[in-house]
Amino acid sequence: MCGIMGYLGERDTVEVLLEGLRRLEYRGYDSAGVAVLVDGKVEVVKAKGKISVLEEVLEGKKPEGSVGIAHTRWATHGPPSKKNAHPHADCKGHIAIVHNGIIENYLELREKLQAEGHKFRSETDTETLAHLFEKYYDGDLEKAVRRGLKEVKGSYAVVAISDRDPGVLIAARQYSPLIVGLGEKPGENFVASDPSAILSFTRKAYLIDNGEMVVLTRDRVEVKTLAGKAVKKSVFHIEWDAEMAEKGGHKHFMIKEIFEQPHALRETIGERIAGGEAALKLDRLNLTDAYLRRVKKVAIIACGTASYAGMAVQYALEKLCGVPVMVDVASELQHRECVFDKETLGIAISQSGETADTLQAMRMARRQGAKLLAITNVIGSSVARESNGVLYIHAGPEIGVASTKAYTSQIMAMLLFCVHLGLVRGTIKPTAARRLLRGMKRLPDQAEEFLEGEAAHVEELARKYKDVMRYLYLGRGAHYCTAMEGALKIKEIAYLDAEGYAAGEMKHGPLALVTEEVGVLSAVVEGPHYEKSIGNLQEIRARGGKVIAVANEGDEEIQKYADDVIRIPKTEEVLSPVLAGIPMQLYAYYVADLWDREIDQPRNLAKSVTVE
Ligand code: F6R
Repeated sequence: MCGIMGYLGERDTVEVLLEGLRRLEYRGYDSAGVAVLVDGKVEVVKAKGKISVLEEVLEGKKPEGSVGIAHTRWATHGPPSKKNAHPHADCKGHIAIVHNGIIENYLELREKLQAEGHKFRSETDTETLAHLFEKYYDGDLEKAVRRGLKEVKGSYAVVAISDRDPGVLIAARQYSPLIVGLGEKPGENFVASDPSAILSFTRKAYLIDNGEMVVLTRDRVEVKTLAGKAVKKSVFHIEWDAEMAEKGGHKHFMIKEIFEQPHALRETIGERIAGGEAALKLDRLNLTDAYLRRVKKVAIIACGTASYAGMAVQYALEKLCGVPVMVDVASELQHRECVFDKETLGIAISQSGETADTLQAMRMARRQGAKLLAITNVIGSSVARESNGVLYIHAGPEIGVASTKAYTSQIMAMLLFCVHLGLVRGTIKPTAARRLLRGMKRLPDQAEEFLEGEAAHVEELARKYKDVMRYLYLGRGAHYCTAMEGALKIKEIAYLDAEGYAAGEMKHGPLALVTEEVGVLSAVVEGPHYEKSIGNLQEIRARGGKVIAVANEGDEEIQKYADDVIRIPKTEEVLSPVLAGIPMQLYAYYVADLWDREIDQPRNLAKSVTVE
């Protein structure tokens, strides 16, 4: 949450900063600001609202200089306002800083600094840092930042400039993401929250680790520990290209990303399925067969949509590998005792790879002896770096705040792992593995076929049910996750009331919600739960609820029990969550669009949740 960007160089600094902020806007969008060094003075311009508001404010009065920092905010301490927007300055306006994270001891620090005479202007935790650096400034910004950060507890990616150290940017990281972009042409460098911000300028980067500081000038980048010891970094090449982060003619990123799923799924498979063999090439897995045979329990560590992807694979892992799997949201998991031990494999799933709750739960798991496998989209992200092994999903940048292509690619990546685990443990025979892998290889084409053939029908249904204000999403077995994910999508982007439920739980309470006003979306694919799922639809229709069923092509029976049917191609039941997730995304998207919602940036949310 919150995006930060810094630049030194000859280009139009404000334009570079704004371009970075636009790419980071998915991280937070309630206020924004820039600070630029102009003729030996720090000039700060801020605005409440999206980046476009800041752009309007800057029109015609852009500060001009060759060093600047910028920020787009997702409020934690103090409501969204111009006053609380970053950059924040010290008392005399010599130092300006931008920050992402949470300063846990800010109240204590603030009181101390106020008692020493520092004047605060905002309600933020961040402003404390500006005054702290001011307190320790004696002619060297780097030293002041290092000294100040010694007193700070919490998480931060912070970038500072000072008019008394022109030509220098100081950045530091503790638990919040930070990347340095190395100028492709001489005389410029960048710093930002994530690679998307610097894509249009450079592909060469340093990934900054926890406890590291960076001193940047136009011609030099020095990475050190917070204690001042030099750190040697290797150059990291960003593979994503700038075009992948554009809307490419679509109205929203979300719909573009929904339609990108066939491609994303092909990329997730990549070269991992070895010809017609019942074998997989999971090159960065780093978990030996001997260890995988010893694993007694798998714990999925994830939040939101990523945790629902975990639920999909819970079903597959238990069914195909006979290993017990526990799924709980990471925000809860990190506080539960005795969940992990040496024979537990933690699978951390995270699109961004920077979700604070997920990282905290992972650290707890490691402390208790578990090994970790990361399933993430962002190469070199914290989740990847803090795990023993990693399977990148290679879905390409996901900009829409509501996760879509990452969800299906996460399931695909984990299904690949599931087959590997089953082969290693002998619970999946090579013939069954070959059948499953053939099924997986067909999924991208089937997703394509569905999008080409059924998207218009889903749009029609969204129009038909536009006035439905309350939804229930139901599923059983492999599709409990589909229900949870469908409900989350419509809640977050259409702002409609929706509950996701295990269909079998209806009679234990939620059936009381069903009236003629309620819309029910239910995934009913062919498999062991089909009959029971049909029973649930009957219970709902008997009470007047309207049913849209997501069912297999060729299933004629379903028509008797549903008002409308969305058809998905047939596949193995354990693989079907990949396909069943797509109509749920499309339905939520089209409903939200009819309501004219801000689909890519829903209210109160941010894409990368880097605070607990
Ligand atoms: C919902 C959504 C969120 C994320 C969650 C975890 O559409 O995107 O629920 O899934 O915040 O984010 P990552 O996957 O980045 O850890």
